[in-house]
Amino acid sequence: MLILGIESSCDETGVALVEVLGDAPPVLLADELHSQIKMHQPYGGVVPELASRDHIRRVLPLLQATLDKACRPLSSVDVVAFTQGPGLAGALLVGAGAACALGAALDVPVLGVHHLEGHLLSPFLSADPPKFPFIALLVSGGHTQLMQVDSVGSYKILGETIDDAAGEAFDKSAKLLGLDYPGGPMLARLAEQGDPKAYKLPRPLLHSGNLDFSFAGLKTAVLTQVKKIKDANVLAGQSQELTETQIVDVAASTQAAIVECLVKKSLAALVGSGLRRLVVAGGVGANQHLRESLNAECAKRNIRVHYPELRLCTDNGAMIALAAALRIQAGVAKPSKDYSFAVKPRWELAA
Ligand code: KG4
Ligand code: ZN
Repeated sequence: MLILGIESSCDETGVALVEVLGDAPPVLLADELHSQIKMHQPYGGVVPELASRDHIRRVLPLLQATLDKACRPLSSVDVVAFTQGPGLAGALLVGAGAACALGAALDVPVLGVHHLEGHLLSPFLSADPPKFPFIALLVSGGHTQLMQVDSVGSYKILGETIDDAAGEAFDKSAKLLGLDYPGGPMLARLAEQGDPKAYKLPRPLLHSGNLDFSFAGLKTAVLTQVKKIKDANVLAGQSQELTETQIVDVAASTQAAIVECLVKKSLAALVGSGLRRLVVAGGVGANQHLRESLNAECAKRNIRVHYPELRLCTDNGAMIALAAALRIQAGVAKPSKDYSFAVKPRWELAA
């Protein structure tokens, strides 16, 4: 069975083709991606209307490129999967509209996929796929959640952010340092050269006794810290602008605060559940410091950690085709010929 996956929930258009043969692990045949980052950069964030228009321009050429790469004709597609939510309504409608039109034209069923389930299951495409059950740390631009995952479709939320997501904390702190959107990866790069202990930043809810996170206060603390440094620079008779060293030190201190919260709560979730396997997914899962800290802490405790391939940490079509494939294989979803392409901009993954 050939499953076509289309992702268009935010600022990346992704298309992928996954093959399912019986119960064997699904195989990614080809995938294509177009990132809108450059287009949104002058605005300092995603402009929803521009995002939708660009998805429309990209989706069919990316589909053709994916088919060409996989050496499969469009007529060989058996199921068309698409991101049904959560995300920007207009952006989601483009993927859903394209998927349903293709489904109707080919007379094949379609399947709406939850974007976060795509992230969550993306490590199954890695060279070291996880086994159920496991604890999942889902860290993206819009979500930060710890879940117990017992099987495909069985997701129990153990804790989540009560305000900003971890990715948002990276991006907003980066903006305060004058870095371009999306600042997360750039802040991480600068942090590599900085001293993570240079500035004392809060670790919100670290000792809350539950598995929830809070990152909104951190952004305010970074803002206050940047102001303090500027004042001190002026007092010292220098330009108020942060020096290169000060910028990398703030970046490293911010990253250390975010990563410590993510690592400590993940370990607490593992201890609380008694599980010995952790899966990390979502854009922030690409963060090297997070990976190194988790690897070190989990190695000490004999806990296995799994990540998606680096390129599949951020949004892509492969994870959508894969999630559809795994849901169909597990018998928890049935594609249908309902081509009404209803999208769900707000959609909880787990109860
Ligand atoms: O999963 P994703 O691509 O989109 C959502 O579904 O939200 O995640 C994007 C987020 C952004 O906030 C971005 O800054 C962050 O992931 N991100 C990173 C890194 N790469 C992407 N944050 C920290 N370090 C990175 N290396
Ligand atoms: Zn995402």
